[in-house]
Order: sequence, then structure tokens, then C-alpha cells
Amino acid sequence: MNQAASYLCPMEDLLKQIQNYKQEISSTVAVDPDSLEAYRIRFLGTKGIVKNLMGEMRNIPAEKKKEFGQVLNEFKLFAESKYETWKQSVTGSGLQKEASGSMDLSLPGDPLPLGTRHPISLVRNRIIHIFGRLGFSVAEGPEIEDDWHNFTALNLPENHPARDMQDTFYINRNPDWLLRTHTSSVQARVMEKQKPPIRIICPGRVYRNETISARANCFFHQTEGLYVNEQVSFADLKQTLYFFVQEMFDKDVKIRFRPSYFPFTEPSAEMDISCLICGGKGCQVCKHTGWVEILGSGMVHPRLLENFGIDSNKYTGFAFGMGVERICQLKYRINDLRLYSQNDVRFLRQFTNAI
Ligand code: PHE
Repeated sequence: MNQAASYLCPMEDLLKQIQNYKQEISSTVAVDPDSLEAYRIRFLGTKGIVKNLMGEMRNIPAEKKKEFGQVLNEFKLFAESKYETWKQSVTGSGLQKEASGSMDLSLPGDPLPLGTRHPISLVRNRIIHIFGRLGFSVAEGPEIEDDWHNFTALNLPENHPARDMQDTFYINRNPDWLLRTHTSSVQARVMEKQKPPIRIICPGRVYRNETISARANCFFHQTEGLYVNEQVSFADLKQTLYFFVQEMFDKDVKIRFRPSYFPFTEPSAEMDISCLICGGKGCQVCKHTGWVEILGSGMVHPRLLENFGIDSNKYTGFAFGMGVERICQLKYRINDLRLYSQNDVRFLRQFTNAI
């Protein structure tokens, strides 16, 4: 017998055995802790098949050790990974059927209760999306503000009568602190840091000291916008807001501007849209005028620009501010503001995520 024949036989034998074990494992399904444990002891235990095969290594001639070692190692990993997979399905997910000892993978999963987005969030996201397409980015700021950013810098000095329009919550610890009454304070913070061109919208919650009723709450949500650049005109303001209402409501919606007053804009205007209910013919919602008010706007007052070191001879800008609840009310016909904060799922479930 030559040397080759003397080692070929045991190695071939062993490889065949490994092949058979592999087949055996492939056709096995461990479905309960007992069969899983039996499998572990038989294949992976200290006196198990894998260990025994390892012991055979010393009978393999040196030049074949590498080849055999590779096959053996691969087999070991195979046996171990099967064990891990079965272990997870037996102990982890509890999928096993106790009575019959078999697993029913067709059972439906446990349903997870899914919520819906709040209508205010839906509308706010839509506003952000529409202005995003026009190049406006989102700016945010603190809800506890100081007097300068909420009032003084915006051309509302102390004792200015317009401060009364916004019943303010002050913070006792520091008379200079207040809950912001509008997100114009964020515009002030952006102008403080950034040089034109500035093109931002400021969504956020604002606070006013009002008695809670169907038409008023002590807080609400706003989205204000600001565009400062060279040669910004009122025509740009009109076109921007016209695009917005068409995207938000309907292509047929008309807009109109009425002269108004805000300390931070000059000239100032309130914008109405044609009534969405009656299409402008006159109904209860529009109080038979055919129009409903949706926002305040105007050209940024030059004094504001100067307050932030922006040259008002070179730059002009427009600004606008709208109440998100108001847009929501028109879009979804929600007439009682209190519904937004009552957390009643029967109300909240009526809105889909696709607006
Ligand atoms: N800040 C105003 C408000 O809260 C809205 C507004 C913003 C008006 C910008 C004009 C320009 O009522």
C-alpha cells in the first residue's frame, strides 16, 4: 500500500460523514426547546459531532490538514448558525405552536395601533413644502423671547399703542422676558445674523392672553415669511402669495389686498381669498361678502432693516404672517378652535397624511 492510499481513506470517509450531517441538519426543524437542546448536545456539545470531528484532525496528514480544516470549519459555522436561527424562533418570537409542536408562519402579526398626523402639522408641513419650492428655508427661534426681538426691534417701542393688539404673557422672573406673540421675532433673529438675500419662513407656536372660546385660544400657530434682497417689490409679494393660495387651496381661488397697519411693514395690507364655500357668491362663512381674510403682509419698514444693519437704500423686502389654524379652518371646515387641543381621537382620525 503506498502512502497516498493510507490517508485517502479516512479523509474521504470523514468528508462523506460531514456531507451526511449537513443533509441531516438541513432536513431538521427544531420547533421546541427540547428538540433544540437535543440538537445542541448532538452537534455542538462538548462530546458532540463537531468536537469529535475536530479530534480527527490529528489523524489527517500535514499536507491535507488545511483543506480538511476549511471543510470542518465551514461545517461548524453551518451547524452553529442553524442553532441560532432555531433558537430565535423557538424562544424569541413565541411563534411555536404548543399543541402540535409545529410553527404556523401564516398567522397574522399583532397589529400595532398607528396614529395620524395632527391637522395643524399637516397644514404646517404643506405650507413649508409650498414655500420651499419658491426657495424659502425654515427658520426657528425660542418661544420665550425678549422684548427687543418680539417688539422693540420690530418698530414697536415701549408704550406703542400697537402692543395692545397683542395681549402679551410676561414672565415674572424677568420683566424683559415674554412668550412670543408672533414669529416675527424669528425674522428679527435671522436679520440680526444673516446678510441679504434672506428668504425664510418661520413656523411656530405663539401666545396671546385671550379667553378661551370657539374662536380664540391662549396660543396658536403661525407661519411668517420674509424676503429681503435688492429690488424686492410689492408685485413680488403678491405673486408669491398668489402662488401659495393656489397651491394650498385651488387654482380658481382669487386674492385681494386691503390696506392695513402693522408697525413693521409700510405699506401694509391684509390679504383675503375668495370664499372657498360659495366661490365668491356670498354665504354664511364669508358673511355674505364673498371674501375671507387669511393673512397680514407688507413691505418691510426701512427702519427695521436699519435696526439690523441692512442698508435700506440698497435692500427692500416683504413680509407676511398667517395663522395655521385659520388655514386649517378653511381647508377642513373646522369651526371650533378648541378641537385642536382636546386630543379626541375621533376628531384627529379624520385627517389623512396625504394633503
Ligand atoms: N406679525 C403679524 C401678526 O402676528 C403678522 C404680520 C407679519 C404682518 C409680517 C405683516 C407682516 O399679526
